[in-house]
Amino acid sequence: MNTSRPTSTSLPAPAGTTRPTTASGATDPMYTLTAVTKTYQQKKRTVKALDGVDLVIPAGQMVAIQGPTGGGKSTLLQMLGALDRPTSGTVRLGDSELSAAGDHALAAARAREIGFVFQGFNLIPTLTAAENVETAFADGSTHRAERRDKAKAALASVGLAERADHLPSELSGGQQQRVAIARALVKEPSVLLADEPTGSLDEATRDEIMDLLEGVWRDRGLTLVIVTHDSAVARRAQRRLRIAGGELAELGPAA
Ligand SMILES: Nc1ncnc2c1ncn2[C@@H]1O[C@H](COP(=O)(O)OP(=O)(O)OP(=O)(O)O)[C@@H](O)[C@H]1O
Ligand SMILES: [Mg+2]
Repeated sequence: MNTSRPTSTSLPAPAGTTRPTTASGATDPMYTLTAVTKTYQQKKRTVKALDGVDLVIPAGQMVAIQGPTGGGKSTLLQMLGALDRPTSGTVRLGDSELSAAGDHALAAARAREIGFVFQGFNLIPTLTAAENVETAFADGSTHRAERRDKAKAALASVGLAERADHLPSELSGGQQQRVAIARALVKEPSVLLADEPTGSLDEATRDEIMDLLEGVWRDRGLTLVIVTHDSAVARRAQRRLRIAGGELAELGPAA
């Protein structure tokens, strides 16, 4: 991998979180979920998307979440990503309780701690690769030149230094996913969450993207949570979880 950025071991830990010193030696919780439920009201029907989820994810762990469609995977990832709050129960990220946070505090937690790779890349088609990465700085807190430099460095770190000026339509599927990963990493989050990051890729590209994610996880000491339907992807994680009917179960370490 062509990486021009320092690794996480040389970066300061963001306030309120703890970083492991090694990818495998972490024990401090990054996430603590207690009795988390999420119900959606759809007309007269109530859907229980999460049903009493208890989960501790140590900082620096690589976790895969599998399960049937409609099982609650994306809902759980949204809780971890501070994109939504539970109906009941608590979600803690480091020292902050996300479930009790207001919208501003949730947005701040997202900006400070969390990189999110959405299913299907989610790139803006009229923006170049570099401009797409720069959208991570949409809050306007970073100067233009710095945004551009960081976007370029993030693209270089995913092996796309030569493609910064390409539009998404001028990139392969695997390259588009690399741009989406660069966008998730450009603010140096302590957590990377990915919803089906390899879902639309062929096997060879899937393995390349997994090599990239695993390398980033290892080098930067990130906590990495991947939702996947693909057992070959899940087997690469340190820990496998399954969620079905909103109930979470431990599948044990990867075989
Ligand atoms: N905004 C919503 N309003 C109502 N119901 C919802 C909403 N979001 C999710 N659900 C329901 O909650 C349940 C869990 O959905 P979720 O998206 O978490 O599933 P998933 O495991 O990610 O499925 P898939 O593999 O198909 O992406 C489903 O029954 C879904 O229909
Ligand atoms: Mg989903």
